[in-house]
Amino acid sequence: MNAKISFRDIVKTYPMKDGVFTALDHVSLDIADREFVTVVGPSGCGKSTLMSMAAGLTEPTSGEVLVDGAPVAGPGPDRGVIFQQYALFPWLSVRKNVEFGLKLMNLPQDERRKRAEHAIELVGLSDFADALPKTLSGGMKQRCAIARAYAVDPQVLLMDEPFGALDALTRVQLQDQLLDTWSREQRTVMFITHDVDEAVYLARRVIVMAARPGRVQQIVEVDLPYPRTEEMRLSPEFARIRNEVWHGVYHQPKAA
Ligand SMILES: Nc1ncnc2c1ncn2[C@@H]1O[C@H](COP(=O)(O)OP(=O)(O)OP(=O)(O)O)[C@@H](O)[C@H]1O
Ligand SMILES: [Mg+2]
Repeated sequence: MNAKISFRDIVKTYPMKDGVFTALDHVSLDIADREFVTVVGPSGCGKSTLMSMAAGLTEPTSGEVLVDGAPVAGPGPDRGVIFQQYALFPWLSVRKNVEFGLKLMNLPQDERRKRAEHAIELVGLSDFADALPKTLSGGMKQRCAIARAYAVDPQVLLMDEPFGALDALTRVQLQDQLLDTWSREQRTVMFITHDVDEAVYLARRVIVMAARPGRVQQIVEVDLPYPRTEEMRLSPEFARIRNEVWHGVYHQPKAA
């Protein structure tokens, strides 16, 4: 397999008062170039930790993470990250927040403006482009953070529960938009979610993780063609896959 992101035998431990806590226990996972994978699992199983290693923000205790075959040495514009806790600059408007990532790329001002406009429009915030984050709802702040990652146009999107704070309708709209962009521009996406429906709807493979210690429990293939449609959500095949993932997450055997 032509792996875009390769987690190789990742162990992450944290020192505790009475010994060590193992957050990730020998996790190996390859994500193919242009693949869309979702990651599900109980709270605390290490999903965010694993993703932040691909982002170059956390180092494994042992093992390595490769992107395009090279060890990750830190964050880079090839990988766009949307954090579980959206982090916006409170003193900058929506537009300036979205443009911020582009400044680091040395793009000319009008190109920055154009890309930011497009990304802001994609997430439906055009009417609020000049607003400050404190005047936005939680879901709108989250959409601003999504626009900031989209604007940079990275090859790899690392998304940590990006749609968690959104209402059901906006969520479905952004899912379809993300799939649409992904299929046109063929990114590699690693997407964490608590929502089993969302996990199945988006992905080619769903990675089911288990906790204590954090590990890959099961990988469920989603054998539904793209583009995914609303009708597919109602199909028996979707229900079957959804149940398999659900079972993987909520009926996990206790670790030895
Ligand atoms: N800096 C740290 N020091 C000690 N323990 C940590 C640290 N960061 C994370 N952990 C622990 O590692 C485990 C995995 O955390 P992580 O945030 O990756 O979980 P998660 O699967 O993303 O959970 P959630 O679904 O709640 O977001 C947790 O038990 C957490 O307490
Ligand atoms: Mg998390």
